[in-house]
Amino acid sequence: MEQNRRRFLQTSAGLALAASAPWVRAQPAPLKVGLMLPYTGTYAALGNAITNAFKLYVAEKGGKLAGRDIEYVVLDDESEPAKAVDNANRIVNRDKVDVLVGTVHSGVQAGMVKVARESGVLSIIPNAGFGAATGALCARNIFRTSFSNWQTIHALGKVMWDKGHKTAAWITHKYAAGEEMFGGFKEGYEKVGGRIVKDLWLPFPNVEFQALITEIAAAKPDAVACFFAGGAAVKFVKDYDAAGLKNKIPLYGNGFLTDGTLQAQGASAQGIYTTLHYADSLDIPKDKEFRLNYAKAYKLQPDVYAVQGYDAAQLLDIGLKAAKGDVKNQKAMVAAMEGVVIDSPRGKWKMSKAHNPIQDSYLRQVVGEQNKYVSVAWKALEDPARGCKMLV
Ligand code: PHB
Repeated sequence: MEQNRRRFLQTSAGLALAASAPWVRAQPAPLKVGLMLPYTGTYAALGNAITNAFKLYVAEKGGKLAGRDIEYVVLDDESEPAKAVDNANRIVNRDKVDVLVGTVHSGVQAGMVKVARESGVLSIIPNAGFGAATGALCARNIFRTSFSNWQTIHALGKVMWDKGHKTAAWITHKYAAGEEMFGGFKEGYEKVGGRIVKDLWLPFPNVEFQALITEIAAAKPDAVACFFAGGAAVKFVKDYDAAGLKNKIPLYGNGFLTDGTLQAQGASAQGIYTTLHYADSLDIPKDKEFRLNYAKAYKLQPDVYAVQGYDAAQLLDIGLKAAKGDVKNQKAMVAAMEGVVIDSPRGKWKMSKAHNPIQDSYLRQVVGEQNKYVSVAWKALEDPARGCKMLV
């Protein structure tokens, strides 16, 4: 019976009848969402958290956004910038995704932004802080639900100065994100009077920290600021403690240092202060609901990456609804996504004119397995979006 019906619909007469018959509704094809994220290497856990939370939102909506079934096309970008343009071209031009969601690593993001600008595909960045994506290379079809690198660390300098640290050493991976975070930290710290006495770098994703930690000890700064995330953050925090520096030269960073990593870092992370646009103990109903649902679905605690992935799905839903599910109507989608206020687990945030969140930066401190909220370090922090031509 079912087979007969299908055969009938496949004939042109059947199709013509189906189009005019009120009892047979043509089903729109599933919407293809491309998830280009790291699923191996140092940032694998970050890619997984983003994917989990994106899918959680879609599942909460019954598996459909704006009436469209969702089909995922998943690509492991390996946090490998050299493969980024080829990978992005493959998923956009060969797999023909309707929406491109990704990625984590700023160097890979640079390649994805190039492909997004060339192809015009609607793109949502759920992590990578690559400044130019919402700065000099900003574009109508590119949105971000996470942060700019500058934004995550701008408030940290003042926090450290207020705690009495007049000099600091800096350490990070030598790549786009590390360089931009250093710029953001330097700007904020020097503005309040701080002095950076040493900056130390190692190639991504190298985790041989020993020689550099010895250099930090020799330089005797009042404190250390850094950017590390994922597997590298776990190892750096443990190595810093094992070298006996934890109680001598306090360690600070943007919150990636201790987000999604605390179980593995254990005692080595206790007491560390960081700044970030999320914390584990926010008194926000939306966050409580999100944390419960995420934990139930995945038997894991969510982290900042999960929040950003969830918001990427929320943003897409808002755009799709405005276009009644028709992703080809990009004009309607973009218009709805611009200037939107997202009801996020991190707290409500507004999309800037450059398509980047305007959001509070929280000061947090590690207590047990939580990045406990301490205070708002910077209210409604907006990336300066230097060079973005959409600002006017
Ligand atoms: C980045 O490369 O932009 C990046 C990676 C991991 C993070 C934050 C930023 O946790």
